[in-house]
Amino acid sequence: MSASLSRPRVGVWLIGARGSVATTVVTGCAAITAGLHPPTGMVTETPAFTDSALPALSDLVFGGHDTVDCPLPKRAETLTAGGVLPPGTATAVAAELAAADREIRPGGPTPGDTRSEAELITAFADDIRDFMHRHELERAVVVNVASTEPASHGPDAPLPASTLYALAALRTGCPYVNFTPSEGMHHPVAAREAERSGLPYAGRDGKTGQTLLRAVLGPMFAQRALNVRAWSGTNLLGGGDGAALADPAAAAAKNAGKERVLADTLGTVPEGEVHIDDVPALGDWKTAWDHIAFDGFLGTRMILQTIWQGCDSTLAAPLVLDLARLTARAHEAGLTGPLGELGFYFKDPVGEGPAALGEQYATLTGFAERLASANPDDSAPRPGPDEETQ
Ligand SMILES: NC(=O)c1ccc[n+]([C@@H]2O[C@H](COP(=O)([O-])OP(=O)(O)OC[C@H]3O[C@@H](n4cnc5c(N)ncnc54)[C@H](O)[C@@H]3O)[C@@H](O)[C@H]2O)c1
Repeated sequence: MSASLSRPRVGVWLIGARGSVATTVVTGCAAITAGLHPPTGMVTETPAFTDSALPALSDLVFGGHDTVDCPLPKRAETLTAGGVLPPGTATAVAAELAAADREIRPGGPTPGDTRSEAELITAFADDIRDFMHRHELERAVVVNVASTEPASHGPDAPLPASTLYALAALRTGCPYVNFTPSEGMHHPVAAREAERSGLPYAGRDGKTGQTLLRAVLGPMFAQRALNVRAWSGTNLLGGGDGAALADPAAAAAKNAGKERVLADTLGTVPEGEVHIDDVPALGDWKTAWDHIAFDGFLGTRMILQTIWQGCDSTLAAPLVLDLARLTARAHEAGLTGPLGELGFYFKDPVGEGPAALGEQYATLTGFAERLASANPDDSAPRPGPDEETQ
């Protein structure tokens, strides 16, 4: 682990704190800290990040919002029964799960919620601010891992919940990560506030499976001058994410990110579609099938098919931990605005940056070096937890 004991603790405020990804994040962080498992899948635990002064996993303090009240230890039990968490791990870190559970506050808006948008933002911001005060935290990163929302419609539509939370993060002076395809900081109202606040933010939609492969294979076809004629994909998954993505409007938000990767790496969008099917029996286990039709020399027709069978939450959790550490450190180092250098992690990255995974990794390691040379005392003044940005 790569940080010194004298460094301050850092808050990680999870929106969707009782979901599969959030529960796996809290369980995994505690299990790695206790030495029960190696940090497999955590890029920030590799040598390239040793000198970046990232917060240690043992210094992360978890809290968050959710609209359901299933206790975190119970959720971890269900994930264990489903084979997502290894047997015995949730029991071994029961104290850490209970501690995080005590820091989860009711989210919103829930059906019948009569609070206005302004009242919801204030309530969310108060919860984050109280958490920071209770734990004497200098900084906390707000990370959206809540259910994917349907795309919102038009400028007069109500602000989506993800944007209310993003505004609450800005109001409390917290950097922000959107691990979902929901609008969050992308909504024009939040985008304007984000620019004013000077806070760093990253997103959106974690790149954990099918799109990760596309970010490797797209550049391969382009670099080998092979002509991709069609690229079609199907995803089968269950769990809460499968249920949320059964809504065509939510699936459309997800699929837009998957297609952007092809457009950016191939320079054109080939024929073909992406489908997401909810198969509740699969739980958190996702099968993603891609079928790529391409032409070679003299127009010879060929096909590549890939089948990715992954456990969604255990693919996502190490990335969420990486992102929380990198974004907290970026904030400490005084970096502001969209963190395009974190495009390695996302389907639809904010800011500027390459689209091919290899180039994204090179950009990320360059960012690690920049963090290593940044002096924490150089940080520019930015809103603290008591100063409001709107
Ligand atoms: N697992 C992956 O590989 C992966 C990759 C990219 C993105 N994501 C995204 O991460 C998110 C979480 O996935 P998951 O599998 O944990 O889903 P999940 O259904 O298990 O958890 C989502 C949680 O969000 C909560 N929630 C819903 N609306 C809320 C609100 N308004 N306020 C607060 N909480 C709210 C739900 O109650 C639930 O506990 C999804 O949006 C998914 O698309 C996951």
